[in-house]
Amino acid sequence: MNKSNPSLAINGGPKISEHNILIHVPFLDEDDFKAVETATRSTFVSGDGPDCRKFESMLCDYLGVKHVLFVNSATTALEMAFRVKNFPPGAEVICPDFTYTSTAIAALYNNLKIVLADVYPDNGSLDVTKLESYITDKTVAIAAVDYGGIPAEMDEIMSIARKHNLFVVHDTAQSLGSLYKGRKTGSQGDVSTFSFHGTKNLTTGEGGAFVTNDDSIAERVKILREKGTDKYSFLTDNKDRGYYEYIDIGNSYVQSNINGALGVAQMRKLDWMNSERKRIAEFYLQELAGIEGLEFPRITAGSEHNWHLFGILVDPDSRFWIMDALRAEGIMSNVHYTPLHRNRFYSNLSNDDAMPGSMRFYNRLLRLPIYPSLSEVEREWVVAGVKKIFLS
Ligand SMILES: Cc1ncc(COP(=O)(O)O)c(C=O)c1O
Repeated sequence: MNKSNPSLAINGGPKISEHNILIHVPFLDEDDFKAVETATRSTFVSGDGPDCRKFESMLCDYLGVKHVLFVNSATTALEMAFRVKNFPPGAEVICPDFTYTSTAIAALYNNLKIVLADVYPDNGSLDVTKLESYITDKTVAIAAVDYGGIPAEMDEIMSIARKHNLFVVHDTAQSLGSLYKGRKTGSQGDVSTFSFHGTKNLTTGEGGAFVTNDDSIAERVKILREKGTDKYSFLTDNKDRGYYEYIDIGNSYVQSNINGALGVAQMRKLDWMNSERKRIAEFYLQELAGIEGLEFPRITAGSEHNWHLFGILVDPDSRFWIMDALRAEGIMSNVHYTPLHRNRFYSNLSNDDAMPGSMRFYNRLLRLPIYPSLSEVEREWVVAGVKKIFLS
């Protein structure tokens, strides 16, 4: 790599792509627009409508689980995941240092204490060899995260959890469609939580899903997400008393039927959208293999990636320069997740020395554009841009 090469756009040379190739674009087509229009025209625009129920049932089939409850974000699904067990205030939750803030704030919202855990330096996933060292007599739960769509080592995590009688919240926000040991992610933990935010493989604009095979947990969440009322069973069974009752605490976490309709339309093409991502990933993997100073995050053994994100691992000292050089070429690369302890809000919980895996992964990671609408020529320009920078 010759950083002063004059042919690089960062040094004034010609750009690989005249337009900026964005890092993410949601895939939305005519079917999505029609579905939203139809739902809007139906005038059933409030929450937990027929399209929401249909989306939930499609997701149940897709994931092979008993209960999917559509909510307004993965963050609220996570918040309820920690609420359903009524853990005592101050009880401890083990949370990866390398994750989005939602995993941790969901537990904090429930007056629980976060204990940060280190991750593998080569893929950002919970380092199970260190996991037991964080368990104390106050630990009640483990949060596992599928970073970028790469499944966490759920068998190992579940076996440690069962040994110590701990609840497992699986933050699958990014891994819709990934496989772990032949099964879709979403059925391995006690509860799983997906995100349908605009950046995800399937989007409902904003949105999330609370997923579980536990009937009593699902019943509680139906109430929690509907302001503490039993409106869910009122809508389903239309009981004779003609009103629904306030039976618990809760909040308004249901999703509009408009979002439900979008979810149904997106579900119909999810496999195709994920296969397009896979095609791009395979192209990048093949074209960028063997370049000195460039590696790929490790995919967990026995799993399949949904290619939510495509990461490359580079020299930490050159990472920001490479990012700027790519952007100058018209390729919108970016870094990701600043480790939790590096953020003001979590800075008292740990430090760089205690989180070597998290720091190493963070310092080496760069993301490249990947999404179904990335054109063939844009895919080639991404590869050409990376090669231009690394091989100059
Ligand atoms: C690991 C993880 N958990 C939770 C979330 C929050 O998702 P939402 O925006 O749907 O609340 C995200 C968002 O990207 C995430 O990456």
